[in-house]
Amino acid sequence: MTPVDLRSDTVTRPTGAMRAVMATAEVGDDVYGEDPNVRTLEERVADLLGTEAALFVPSGTMANQIALRAHTKPGDEILISRDAHCWRHESGALAAIAGVQTQMLPGHTFTAAEVRAAFRPEDPYQSPSRVVTVENTHNMGGGICWEPAALTEVTAVAKQLGLLAHLDGARLWNAAVATQTSEKELARGFDSVAVCLSKGLGAPVGSLVAGSRDFIRRCHRFRKMHGGGMRQAGILAAAGIHALDHHRARLADDHANARALGEALVGAWAITVDLARIHTNIVMIDLERGTAAAVVAKARDEGILLGVACAQRVRAVTHLDVDREGVLRAAKVIAGIAAAM
Ligand SMILES: Cc1ncc(COP(=O)(O)O)c(C=O)c1O
Repeated sequence: MTPVDLRSDTVTRPTGAMRAVMATAEVGDDVYGEDPNVRTLEERVADLLGTEAALFVPSGTMANQIALRAHTKPGDEILISRDAHCWRHESGALAAIAGVQTQMLPGHTFTAAEVRAAFRPEDPYQSPSRVVTVENTHNMGGGICWEPAALTEVTAVAKQLGLLAHLDGARLWNAAVATQTSEKELARGFDSVAVCLSKGLGAPVGSLVAGSRDFIRRCHRFRKMHGGGMRQAGILAAAGIHALDHHRARLADDHANARALGEALVGAWAITVDLARIHTNIVMIDLERGTAAAVVAKARDEGILLGVACAQRVRAVTHLDVDREGVLRAAKVIAGIAAAM
């Protein structure tokens, strides 16, 4: 039986239709700015996000890191949500590459008052707060979405304090579908936005960083410095354009499958799933006994691939390559393993 791979939405493979557009994509040298598909993709994403410009980069990590580098100087501070990807899962790049320090805000989402309380002004003794970053949806928060009104409050307080606002929108597409709010609306008020094509949208590679023309010009230099200039990248950009055209609305199916997985686990022995936190395509499964690593290992033997979020929390992510039957099979296996622990 084919394994059900719920480790991440990054595991999707390009569909036949996507491979076909990649195979016939017109290309040029993008380091010279000559790739027509890259240009089209950058314009399309800037338009979707309501920014002046956008830049195609190989990964979400690079999109976040060059944005935060372009916004800061070494010794500056970034205010960041709990467990933020660009702090927890980007190999220490903020410290190693941008040379900044972070101050963690208390929650996966946070309030304008918490930003105000954490803010540190320019002062010879302190690292001045320069940027506040928001992650929407929040990966380690279980794919939760920010309330659009809370985003407006946070970006407004940032402006008052003279802070720049960065949005890690690796899964902004999911947030837009789940909250029925356009990406442009969710990105309003941010000075920079990172979005990924290679997660729920199902493209093999690629992310973009978006913002003002001047900011993107600075990012362009950092992309080159980080080795992210690509040549005939139109093959990848064409996959991204196809993903934007064909795979955004269908994210609702992934969200419904995540909910079905969560609902099938409610009442299972020694398991807790908080259905109220399943906003999009990520399900966090809390264990009362045993370890997440043990559940993941046993599930693998039964053809169900899962992730470890922390010691007693298993993470399952739905996507293009798993269907309802797969998630229900996964629920049965997980419940069986937990009951036997
Ligand atoms: C919220 C968030 N931001 C950024 C990234 C980084 O993306 P990439 O794996 O393309 O570097 C991820 C990856 O999962 C993510 O979940």
